[in-house]
This record gives sequence, structure tokens and C-alpha cells, in this order.
Amino acid sequence: MNDRKIIKGRVLSFSDNPFNHYFNFELLSIDIKCIYVKNGQIEFIDDTPDLNPEYENAERIDHGDYVIMAGFVDAHVHYPQTAIIASWGKRLIDWLNTYTFPEEMRFGDAEYAAEIAGRYIEFALRNGTTSMASYCTIHPESVEAFFTAAADRNMCVAAGKTCMDRNAPVGLRDTAKSAYDDSKALIERWQGHGRAHYAITPRFSPTSTPEQLEALGALWSEHPECLMQTHLSEQTDEIVWVRELFPDARDYLDTYETFGLLGERGLYGHAIHLEPREMDRLAEVGASVAHCPTSNTFIGSGLFNTAGMMARGINPGLATDTGGGSSFSMLSTMAAAYEIAQLRGVALHPAQLLWLATCGSARALYLDDQIGNIAPGMAADMVVLNLASTPEIAQRSARAEDVWEEIFPTIMMGDDRAIAATYVAGQKV
Ligand code: GUN
Ligand code: ZN
Repeated sequence: MNDRKIIKGRVLSFSDNPFNHYFNFELLSIDIKCIYVKNGQIEFIDDTPDLNPEYENAERIDHGDYVIMAGFVDAHVHYPQTAIIASWGKRLIDWLNTYTFPEEMRFGDAEYAAEIAGRYIEFALRNGTTSMASYCTIHPESVEAFFTAAADRNMCVAAGKTCMDRNAPVGLRDTAKSAYDDSKALIERWQGHGRAHYAITPRFSPTSTPEQLEALGALWSEHPECLMQTHLSEQTDEIVWVRELFPDARDYLDTYETFGLLGERGLYGHAIHLEPREMDRLAEVGASVAHCPTSNTFIGSGLFNTAGMMARGINPGLATDTGGGSSFSMLSTMAAAYEIAQLRGVALHPAQLLWLATCGSARALYLDDQIGNIAPGMAADMVVLNLASTPEIAQRSARAEDVWEEIFPTIMMGDDRAIAATYVAGQKV
């Protein structure tokens, strides 16, 4: 393969973390630049398209004054819940029992799993999301379907078989042994295969026996190259239930820690109602958390503390949590993150929101050496944003006095119409 492209537009890349207190937003320029892409990777970024003889015959694509940035990275999603998004009227445990579990039951059917995996991936791409960490269902077929759909499009994704051996309906339960065996076989099949990354996935403590958590902890210690994703402290009722199920645990996080399920490459979804000890431990071990703002308002879970997590040195990523979340769009997700932070008294800067949706999520997935930014050596997974995609947005961005004022209306009001193009490994999809 010798595929070269020069992609031109207003390039937004991060050389630093905009949550650092010394970060100078005025220095973060979004100027017209050329991105030189070779075989799916960004080779370099330059001001002119004419410097390098190697690129003489390269395809040239000019996006005018549209903004080119890294494709969005969704740090926590349940692709099997695609078809039950926006289900009315329940809180977490009732919502799982009423809507989620009956739907997830269907994924033992490989054909249905493939249909929904393909549908989900198309929804993600048309919303500018190029990578995600997805839960599957207890069925290995669901994992196969997801990794296959992603591989067909050359996408960098993380996913794993969701493990549950209690408090779930018959037909949606595995065992400690089958969860270990099936997950191990899937790791051998998918981890590091192309752009696939395996995530060992106990759903959450209430649906795993201590024996299953222990087996998965052992599996993670045998495969430390894998991610481990689960849920943590999403709703207060859930936390009370965890306390009843694990009376000896110091707190919710301890139900994972005790069984070897706390560490680097650990990614904990929601993490809203945390005790100080839990925050300290997450920071100490270098764990990540996934902020799922549309889900947290939709299911009524609570207000995640983005600024507090950053200040404590915990890695937050941003996530849709589809279908507990009410959107496939990371633009809507950034808007919800902004609103939740406002309710906590913090106004997140547009650069911070965009950073969370790209670099932050990539770091939360421990993949920030490959995805989440426009820089030499990174994958050419990119989104192209039209900052005047609707009359409503255009009339506001036309008044902008700087680039952040120009971008913010698209974050708050934009949808798939703002996504002018999505590139995966240098190919427009
Ligand atoms: N906790 C355990 N499972 C789930 C799920 O599927 N969605 C959400 N939002 N929370 C969970
Ligand atoms: Zn979830």
C-alpha cells in the first residue's frame, strides 16, 4: 500500500491539556494547514501543500474553512442498546430489567448481532465518532459481530463480552468459568488483531458473583495488555444494593479492587457518587473514568464532577453511553457535559470539551499514542466540522469574535449536519 493524501482545512490539534491551569487558549490556533497522510497515518502537518516531492502525486482534498480535528472517541457505549435508545420512564435498575435485558437477549443470534453492530457503527461514523469502547452482551457472537463490523471499516475500537452470572434473567447469564473461558478465547482471537483492542467486561458488581469477579481479575492479570471496563457508582439506589451484596467491601470500588479489577487500563463508567477513598485509589493506580452526561441526566443518575476528576489526576473520557444515553452524537454529549458542569458551577471552555471528546477519551482508553489528536504518527482518523451547518448556528457563529465563540454554537446546537466528513485511517467514510 502506498496511499498518500494532502488534506487541507483549519486544523485543530492539541499540544497540551487545556485543563492545565497555565494553558493559554489564545495560543491554541486553528489555522489553515495541510495534513499529509501516508498509508492511513498522519506523517506531518505543514502550511503549504507543495514542499514534499513524495507527495507530488498525492490526492488533494481541500475542506476550505471547515475545521479538521481528530475523530471523536466515545469512551463508553453499549452498541447492543442501539435499538432501545430513548426508552421512557425508568431509572437504572428498572430500565435495565424493562428495556435492556430483553433486547440484549437477542444477541445470541449472530445475524441480529451483525445487523445492529453495522447499524450502530454507521450511526457513530455519521456523527464523527471514529473510535469507541463498547460493551457487547454475554454472547460471544455479539463480540464477533462488533469487531467484524469495525474491522470491515478499519476502525480502532475496544470491546468485550459483557459478563453476568447473577441478577439477570435466565438466558442472559453466564458462569464464572464460562465468562473466563469465553473472554479468554475472544482475547486470543481479537486482542491486537488489526485495530481491535479487547476489554475484559464485568457488567457491574451487582450482576457478577464474587467468583466471577475473581475469575475475571485473574484473566486480567494474565492479560494486562487488555482494558478492563465496568460500571461504578452511577445511581444511589445501585450503591445501596452493592453494599447489601458485598457487606465486607469498604465501598463500591472495593468490590472490584478486592478481586484484582482495579488498575491501569481500568475504565470505570459513570463514577458519579464517589467516596474520597475511591477518588484517591482511582488516581493512585492511574485508572480512567467515563463521563456519560446525556445518560446521567436521562436516567437521572447525577452530576459528574469533571473539573474535580481532572484536579485529582484521574483520567476522564467523554461518552454517550448509548442507549442509556440519549444520543449517538459526541457534539450533544459535549453540550450535556457543559450543562452538567454549569450545574456544578464550572463553565468548561470549548477547547476543554473538544479535548475531552478526543484526547481525553483516547487517554481514558490508553490509546492516546494512536488516536485522539492530529499529530505526526497518529492514525488519520479525523472529523471535518462545518461551523455554520444550520441557519440557526450560522447566524450565531457569524457574530463570533474569536474561534472559540465560532465553535461553541456547533458544540451546543450541532448535530450530524455539522459533520462535513469523517475519515478513518485516511479514508473518507
Ligand atoms: N449499569 C449496568 N449496566 C448498565 C447499562 O447497560 N447502562 C447503564 N447506563 N448503566 C449500567
Ligand atoms: Zn454503561
